[in-house]
Amino acid sequence: MTKCSLGILVSGSGSNLQAILEACRSDDYPAHVSLVLCNVPGVKAIERAKNFNIPTHVISHQDFPNREAFEKQLVEKLEEAKVDYVILAGFMRLLSPFFIRRFPSRILNIHPSLLPEFPGTHAIERAFTAKIPQTGVTVHFVDEGTDTGPILLQEKVPIAKEDTLESLEEKIHRVEHKLYPQAIRIVSEKLLGKSEKFL
Ligand code: GRF
Repeated sequence: MTKCSLGILVSGSGSNLQAILEACRSDDYPAHVSLVLCNVPGVKAIERAKNFNIPTHVISHQDFPNREAFEKQLVEKLEEAKVDYVILAGFMRLLSPFFIRRFPSRILNIHPSLLPEFPGTHAIERAFTAKIPQTGVTVHFVDEGTDTGPILLQEKVPIAKEDTLESLEEKIHRVEHKLYPQAIRIVSEKLLGKSEKFL
């Protein structure tokens, strides 16, 4: 079966990467991970990728004089691997228009809130502190703003009275691990011409 090629960018734990790698094990899943790029040496995400025998490169932003030089390296690896989609999975660097324009409508991100609410960092904590009845998870295309691109999938997560920040984080991560593989299935099937389901 022809599959879409994914390049995954990570910076930390990589639990979303793990969920995507597990989804990709199914014969009928329309994508495979071609490479994992990580900008932070020694994080758990690298170990997870290696456990699945996925080519992995650590490209530390600190080794480059500026953002564009760093991003040029990322682009080179992604183009070499001929990726169809760039998947941001806890990648903690902002990407410049230089990078984003190389992959038009081909970059996805997952964000732990119901965008447009709580864009940026500490989204779970800010929703928890705001004492609102629900928050959620969003998968969206990446544009040149911060967490502003077109939304592909969203799921609500209720905040119960007895929730602590930790229990809410757990609930959100569980939803993320289901939603991201679903979103990647949708865009991959679209690209392979198997589905009309898209934005
Ligand atoms: C997730 O909560 C994701 O929504 C956010 O960064 C976190 C990454 O977690 N963008 P992990 O590295 O996938 O475990």
